[in-house]
Amino acid sequence: MAHSSVAAWAPDSWTSKTIRQQPTYPNPAALDDVVDHLTTLPPLVTSWEVDALREELAAAARGERFLLQGGECAESFQDCTADIITSRLKILLQMSLVLTYGLNTKVVRVGRFAGQYAKPRSSPTETRDGITLPSYRGDIINSPAFTEEARTPDPQRLKRAYTKSGLTLNLVRALSEGGFADLRHPEYWNVDFMQHSPLADEYHALVQAIEDSLRFMDVVADGTPGSLDRVQFYTSHEALLLPYETAFTRHVPHQNGVYNLGTHLPWIGKRTNHLDGAHVEYMRGLRNPIGLKVGPSMTRTKLLDLIEVLDPDDTPGRLTLITRFGADAVGTKLPPLLKAVQATGRTVLWCCDPMHGNTERTEGGLKTRRFSNISAELEQTFDIHAAEGSHLGGVHFELTGEDVTECIGGARGLTEHDLERAYHSRVDPRLNYEQALEMAFSVVRKYRQLHQ
Ligand code: PEP
Ligand code: CO
Repeated sequence: MAHSSVAAWAPDSWTSKTIRQQPTYPNPAALDDVVDHLTTLPPLVTSWEVDALREELAAAARGERFLLQGGECAESFQDCTADIITSRLKILLQMSLVLTYGLNTKVVRVGRFAGQYAKPRSSPTETRDGITLPSYRGDIINSPAFTEEARTPDPQRLKRAYTKSGLTLNLVRALSEGGFADLRHPEYWNVDFMQHSPLADEYHALVQAIEDSLRFMDVVADGTPGSLDRVQFYTSHEALLLPYETAFTRHVPHQNGVYNLGTHLPWIGKRTNHLDGAHVEYMRGLRNPIGLKVGPSMTRTKLLDLIEVLDPDDTPGRLTLITRFGADAVGTKLPPLLKAVQATGRTVLWCCDPMHGNTERTEGGLKTRRFSNISAELEQTFDIHAAEGSHLGGVHFELTGEDVTECIGGARGLTEHDLERAYHSRVDPRLNYEQALEMAFSVVRKYRQLHQ
């Protein structure tokens, strides 16, 4: 195959390729100055953490771990607060305990946080009342208010994104070292909201069993730090704004290769996965494990070419394919791609993102997703892997620990009319705390059906 992998790679070799989904800065020299400055600052993560995650993802690809990736669609600077970071971490931890217990396997926790600030958009501009301005592309680029000042891309925002990522990660790391004591308290596992679900009894029994295990672990540990006192969270974000990513792309002493030390797991979004494009060029040279979103327009040939370029040596844990087709399309789109990858004899980690193929708009114009469509795509994805002799090794959600009303459905039966009450997302609708926990229960339920 004649493709770019034969050419030499460098942290900036992407600059000779076509780049998509980038803002137009009024003063490009100011962007260069900011990137030069960021290059001198300490990284956010270390190469050994990145290597450890790659090993864990390799184990997940072998079926010995399960990946839970979740968090914001788009982080915002103003939501970099103790409450929001803590509650997001708690729901992720709680979901991971449900999965650990229910799937009887270790869970790899990866947040969509500490750097998820850049968004691809379907249109570069937005028009309201005859006025056209650049689209909001995430807090690292501009601001959502519909004014010329807010929407003009500002390179200084890269520095704020770095600072906010560091502040977020600092709290995540501190909480990971013992901040979860209240998870052992029964009131933390109050799942009264489930009472209206036909599955309430089943889920209550699961929660009871988890509580018993947590108590049992406490008794066994006898006051010495137990395993819950230190839990690992890794970070991930879409590697979209390449000047920012390049600033954290570093050689590490005594290590081979080049790492992105701005996050553990960067991923390529659906809109920037062109074989000859800048994003694929940038990602192919990193040592990090990487994610690749796979949507309905992906062909077999393109997917195999991407795998060849991004993971030429079939490195265990290197590539996570994050599928996002939508509940309607997954049944026809996933099987041929799955078979094509299987026929190569390669091992990749398959992860299901049941959010991005199931976005719709209400009559009132709000973006939403139905809990029922999200779980339907997940369940079908589990079934398709099982039918093909493959296995689904992970799940990917957009969620928050807050009580928002952005997705429809779930045990509490949120309707379209509820959405206005607490719709805070600036981009995609997220599962709220209860919906996210219920989703973890439903993953367990499906998994157990397949494995009993
Ligand atoms: C996202 O994960 O927020 C996203 C934009 O996904 P995709 O690239 O799959 O559309
Ligand atoms: Co999104």
